[in-house]
Amino acid sequence: MIFGLLLHILAATIWVGGMFFAHFMLRPAAAPLEPGVRLPLMRRALARFFPWVWVSIALLALSGAGMIKLGADSLSIQIMMGLGIVMMLAFGHLYFAPWRRFQRALDGGDLPAAAAQLTQVRAIVTFNLVLGLVVVAIGATGRYWQ
Ligand code: HEM
Repeated sequence: MIFGLLLHILAATIWVGGMFFAHFMLRPAAAPLEPGVRLPLMRRALARFFPWVWVSIALLALSGAGMIKLGADSLSIQIMMGLGIVMMLAFGHLYFAPWRRFQRALDGGDLPAAAAQLTQVRAIVTFNLVLGLVVVAIGATGRYWQ
């Protein structure tokens, strides 16, 4: 249980913290750059972040399911699981639709198309960041309000 919780909380920290950094630090810092510089920079940064998101998703789902199997059960856990699954589906969509199209457009030298796809990526990351912060708040405080 402790081991599962440890993996769970480390994975949540990496995923949500990475989104917070991408949204509030990386994106505004890159915004003034020319598209020809900014888009490849965002590609290199996100290409390093997304594999960690896949690892985090695997760890969150496995450790979460493991803790439930060991007896953890409450309203806050149900809410966490529901919202967590929404976050995972949203990331899956981000990865296989706009992220793929973004890379293809960039490879083809179509900067406006790449920029449009990156806007989609950003919208989903923002959505997941808000949801992730809510899930962390619910998961960590649940024991005190139920
Ligand atoms: C996908 C399904 C998920 C399941 C089945 C799940 C399940 C669980 C379980 C069973 C616990 C232990 C709660 C307890 O015993 O009090 C827990 C804790 C927690 N989970 Fe999740 N979780 C999921 C997703 C997530 C996600 C996506 C995040 C964050 C992005 C998250 C963040 C947390 C946090 C912050 C805690 C509290 C740790 C603590 O302070 O004790 N979980 N989760």
